[in-house]
Amino acid sequence: MAQKKENKLEWAVVTGASKGLGYCYCEELLKLGYNVIAVARDTTPVATLQKKYPSQSIKMINYDLSILANCQKLFNEVQTDNVTILINNAGYGIWGYFNESSLEQEMNMIDLNIKALHILTKIFVQRFIEQNQGRVLNIGSLAAFTPAPVFASYYASKAYVWSLGVAINTELKKTKSPVRVITLCPGPLKTDFWNRSSNQHNAKYHSTVKVMKTSTYARKSLVKGLKVKRKNYIITESINKIVKKLTKWSPQSWVLTSVYNYQRKRK
Ligand SMILES: NC(=O)c1ccc[n+]([C@@H]2O[C@H](COP(=O)([O-])OP(=O)(O)OC[C@H]3O[C@@H](n4cnc5c(N)ncnc54)[C@H](OP(=O)(O)O)[C@@H]3O)[C@@H](O)[C@H]2O)c1
Repeated sequence: MAQKKENKLEWAVVTGASKGLGYCYCEELLKLGYNVIAVARDTTPVATLQKKYPSQSIKMINYDLSILANCQKLFNEVQTDNVTILINNAGYGIWGYFNESSLEQEMNMIDLNIKALHILTKIFVQRFIEQNQGRVLNIGSLAAFTPAPVFASYYASKAYVWSLGVAINTELKKTKSPVRVITLCPGPLKTDFWNRSSNQHNAKYHSTVKVMKTSTYARKSLVKGLKVKRKNYIITESINKIVKKLTKWSPQSWVLTSVYNYQRKRK
């Protein structure tokens, strides 16, 4: 993959940049020659990347994006930077039976996974259309493709991310815009996601499918996400493509029972 020209100074905004997938996206972007604006509630860990890539610039912005006013503040703060990429990655889940899970936590998750992503996608797409260049990569999930008993609101939030992104990207293609909104749909990754989703500190990680290294997923999905012209969303790895096909072609009652049996045993 060709590196970006040093003097081009393109910036990428990455939300949820302090760990897990977002941190890996920051590193992959730096490798590709982008400057990075890293956003999370506490971006301290990103400072190690600045030491590793001294010739590029990294800005660290500490915002809780579930406080929706911070989305516009973030947008205003990067107005003078030549931003050409936004990766809406910040997100988490709430595992558990719907009648037992915390409504307050669910509303916060909806604010982050859905509303903040929606706001940032809108204002950056408007800016990218004006500047005739730019790409939004929204982090969806394989979870987008089926309802999930015992993980209901998280899967529903990812269905929203997928549906919104596919529709916007279709509008952009139909109106011959060079701007794209691509939804990336990872399968399971070993990150802190499961700890937060299950309210634990050291949760056991269960997965029925092979788990790709987070950095490998970040590299592969970023390269594809920045390149695709016609595709609206990207699923990497054949096992994840098979899972997606199963959710589409199998009887829904079978899919729902399988997901129920998988999710209820996870903790
Ligand atoms: N791990 C998986 O199996 C998996 C599979 C499919 C999709 N995904 C999706 O991938 C994305 C990244 O998840 P991950 O696995 O990398 O999880 P992670 O390791 O828990 O990282 C989540 C990131 O989001 C940030 N974040 C959380 N709440 C925030 C808030 N209110 N405002 C701003 N930033 C916030 C966290 O930083 P702070 O805590 O410092 O704010 C952290 O940097 C999520 O959208 C997730 O749904 C994950």
